[in-house]
Amino acid sequence: MSDRAPGSAWSQHDPGGLEPIRVRVELGERGYEVLVGPGVRRELSSCLPPGARRATVVTQAGIGVDVDPGVPCQVVTIPDGEKAKSLATVEEICRFMARGDMHRSDVVVAVGGGVVTDVAGYAASSYHRGTAVINVPTTLLGQVDAAIGGKTGVNLPEGKNLVGSFWQPLGVLCDTETLAGLPAREWRSGHGEMAKYAFLGVEDLDSLSLAEQVARCVACKAEVVASDEREGGRRMILNYGHTLAHALEAAGFASEDASSSEAELRHGEAVGIGLVFAAELAQLMGRIGTSRVERHRGVVSGYDLPVSLPPGADPATLVQFMTRDKKSAGGLTLMLDGPGGVEPVHEVRPELVHEALDALRGDR
Ligand code: GLY
Repeated sequence: MSDRAPGSAWSQHDPGGLEPIRVRVELGERGYEVLVGPGVRRELSSCLPPGARRATVVTQAGIGVDVDPGVPCQVVTIPDGEKAKSLATVEEICRFMARGDMHRSDVVVAVGGGVVTDVAGYAASSYHRGTAVINVPTTLLGQVDAAIGGKTGVNLPEGKNLVGSFWQPLGVLCDTETLAGLPAREWRSGHGEMAKYAFLGVEDLDSLSLAEQVARCVACKAEVVASDEREGGRRMILNYGHTLAHALEAAGFASEDASSSEAELRHGEAVGIGLVFAAELAQLMGRIGTSRVERHRGVVSGYDLPVSLPPGADPATLVQFMTRDKKSAGGLTLMLDGPGGVEPVHEVRPELVHEALDALRGDR
């Protein structure tokens, strides 16, 4: 094990960068490895379940990342953007698999960002009552978050991610080569999630290679998921900064959709604002001091992410959406920093939330 290992999940590390970094998600019989490094998608054939005779690759037109599962393979291309996260797409994938004579012992390979891994994972979890899926995330956000941990699902017109399952992948291949052509805003979106990890114990990434940075974040997520796979409690900390981000998305100021307008914030940019908001709120509640708030602002702006509310964002509307957030079981629940680290805090007083939002008006 490397002397820079952040925790038990980081099992092997080659400082020269020739060998993939392996991070184990310890979930007993559902446990799996996440391989991180340049070119790791070429390990795909060695990750297949024993007995798999066929593979279905699920991807999107713009992804352009080829994979070779080493068995006969068919490729289904789903539409671009968040609108592809629908039950109609799941039906399309499952019917494609049925026409290709896929069985439960075969394998789905999801190649793309969070939309692809979410929807392909859900299709795999349902097809023949559960077929293996291997994720090959091709965005930074996918590599440090969406592809790890087994949350799969689709949206309904009534809300996002309302239908889904916990279905752990058989393995995850975070090939850092696939990030080379990412647009600048996709990097920023991924950096929003990386900024979050800074407050969950993953600090000082600057001197590390990209693969090491990704692996450190993956190791953090792996440890949290292993401790609370189905989000009974602790896993909620992975949503640090997300309550305001989801409210900004619901209010139309931000979008998880890669094809969103230039004017809209990307998901990770909204998470950046959400982190600063959470810090201001934690300070108002006496949980952290000024220097920790400044640390939040420094990390977020260090990733070139915004630290202020977008013009026109109405605090009353945002509070309304935050109260409806899935993590709030009635009242207002937020993930907040404190002496013991980030944790869920229930029944947060709305007037303090308003005050914290006020601190995010315009550049300070
Ligand atoms: N993206 C948060 C989680 O996987 O729990």
